[in-house]
Amino acid sequence: MSEIKFAKILILGALIMVTVVGCTTDPQSPGIEYMPDMYRTPALEPYSGNSNYPDSMEARLPAEGSIPQGYLPYGIPNTNEGYEMAGALLKNPLDGSDEIMADGKVVYTKYCVHCHGKEGKGDGPTVTAGGHPPPPSYDSQTLKNLSEGKMFHTITYGKNLMGPHASQLNVEERWKVIRYVQTLQGATEAESAEETGDENVESETPEAGTQEETAMNN
Ligand code: HEC
Repeated sequence: MSEIKFAKILILGALIMVTVVGCTTDPQSPGIEYMPDMYRTPALEPYSGNSNYPDSMEARLPAEGSIPQGYLPYGIPNTNEGYEMAGALLKNPLDGSDEIMADGKVVYTKYCVHCHGKEGKGDGPTVTAGGHPPPPSYDSQTLKNLSEGKMFHTITYGKNLMGPHASQLNVEERWKVIRYVQTLQGATEAESAEETGDENVESETPEAGTQEETAMNN
């Protein structure tokens, strides 16, 4: 037998052995493990329990006072005084550009239109289908001159029949939808604003963008 033939037989034999040893009857078994440490890391599975903690809970709660990344706490309390304070202090940090307005409209269509209606007249499907009392129209005497700060406060905490939207909308989305709602506050102006590219909206809120710090930190 030549040496090459012998080597071939040896390799074939080794292959057969690996195949046979690798096949176990238990489908859950990984077979023979070479360096098992590499397969079995010390990391625990979520919800598997953890003996390192007295409550054995593996998924830990964040440390007290933690703030999620990108989240801005709203420091004004949910009181009548807070509502007035928001009206006096908060200014929309976003401008009324086409892009912001388009985003605002998307938010409005998803989260507000079913109660407030397409034009903000308080005639959304929840009202027209019966069962839900109508919200006041945005261009009504009561809401026409409502400040953006008060809007922010109401969207954040809710008001009477309107629920809070802080968990659905982040701060930026709230300011975006406010820009859009402002176009619905002055009916005739808003209609022409939509046609002419929102110039009226800009001039309606001349103070926009001057107090970015205040608005973003709240
Ligand atoms: C469940 C129906 C409902 C939804 C959804 C809803 N609203 Fe309202 N909204 C109301 C009602 C009712 C009022 C009147 C509250 C009051 O003054 O008693 C109101 C009031 C308001 C006001 C006036 C607030 C004030 O301070 O007087 C604004 C602005 C407003 N909504 C904006 C929005 C925006 C923006 C959204 C979407 C993010 C939204 N609403 C979603 C029902 C709703």
